[in-house]
Amino acid sequence: MTRHIPIGKPLLGVEEIRSVLKVLESGVLSVPSTSGGPMIQAFEKTLAEYVRCKHAIAVNSGTSALSVSLMALGVKAGDEVIVPSFTYGATANTVLLLGAKPLFIDIDPKTYNMDPDLIEAKITGRTKAIVPVHLFGLCADMDLINEIAAIHGLHVIEDAAQALGSEYKGKKAGNLGDVGCFSFYPGKVMTTGEGGAITTNNDELALRMRMIRNHGQEKAYEFAVLGSNYRMPEMEAAIGVEQLKKLPSFLEARRNNARRLGETLQFVSSLTLPFENELFKHNWYLYTIKLDASIDRDTVVQKLNADGIEARVYYSAPVHTTPLYRRLGFATEHLPFTMEASKSIFSLPVHPGVSPQDVDFMTGAVKKILG
Ligand SMILES: Cc1ncc(COP(=O)(O)O)c(C=O)c1O
Repeated sequence: MTRHIPIGKPLLGVEEIRSVLKVLESGVLSVPSTSGGPMIQAFEKTLAEYVRCKHAIAVNSGTSALSVSLMALGVKAGDEVIVPSFTYGATANTVLLLGAKPLFIDIDPKTYNMDPDLIEAKITGRTKAIVPVHLFGLCADMDLINEIAAIHGLHVIEDAAQALGSEYKGKKAGNLGDVGCFSFYPGKVMTTGEGGAITTNNDELALRMRMIRNHGQEKAYEFAVLGSNYRMPEMEAAIGVEQLKKLPSFLEARRNNARRLGETLQFVSSLTLPFENELFKHNWYLYTIKLDASIDRDTVVQKLNADGIEARVYYSAPVHTTPLYRRLGFATEHLPFTMEASKSIFSLPVHPGVSPQDVDFMTGAVKKILG
């Protein structure tokens, strides 16, 4: 039998099925109130405890989490928001959707995250917020980012879509800025189908975000602020409640797979392995490695794919180089480390469905291809 190791795979069991059935039997599929239905409340409580934040607000995608956060923090047409270009389009699209302008910033080539040293040069009188992305599950350098934000009176929205369970200096991702945004799309470290959540310690902001999620209603049909329908359905929250219980074991399996990969790949001289230390702790959403410039990355990935390993290139076209952003005039941005990473890195699967034998198969394949 040929081997197939997918890049991501949701792990769902009988617990999720039972939990969804309970919702179906109850007939309560969605509750359009500020606080949401019983499953939403249960999911939010557990998520907030996990992130060690006061509030969690469940929404229907990670993209919605970003949109609701930007709206709640008052980002509007004409404002500017600092974002990386080396990310999924949602990070910048949600800024554009409000009529605001993304200010793209280069990455630190060691971590692939926003380089805090480049932020201040970008700030103008119209800049309102910074959105650091914790890419591939490694946190951006939040102390430096928060310090700059405080000096210039900017809001900080963590794009933690890929970083549930990641830690920075002993604190969890999602608890490192004004608000944190998560995605529960299948293939993330846990899933609700589609779905997302926002975490914050700010009571007033939490209430505003709950209202924005539900068309800005303070009470039924009293539209107090502008909002939309960003509600997560009860069935998704029911999946989330069970997935959160399993999250620690999922993350442990990812860490074991990453460790096993590293034990062998550290000896492949043409590779740079993912950065991690005691202060920056991965959730191992993806195991992302860099190839020496002399090696054609796409050929390596094609060969791994031919062996049944779904190695994948993320962000070969950084956001500012994509057609929409080129049309909007962003193509001339000078982001050399972003461009370099977009040509030289690729990711290997480390999700809990990857067995130790799969890991050994992957390291064998990488060694064979790279000599
Ligand atoms: C960095 C980043 N931001 C935002 C999102 C958007 O999340 P969703 O797909 O749940 O809307 C994703 C999802 O892939 C992401 O990776």
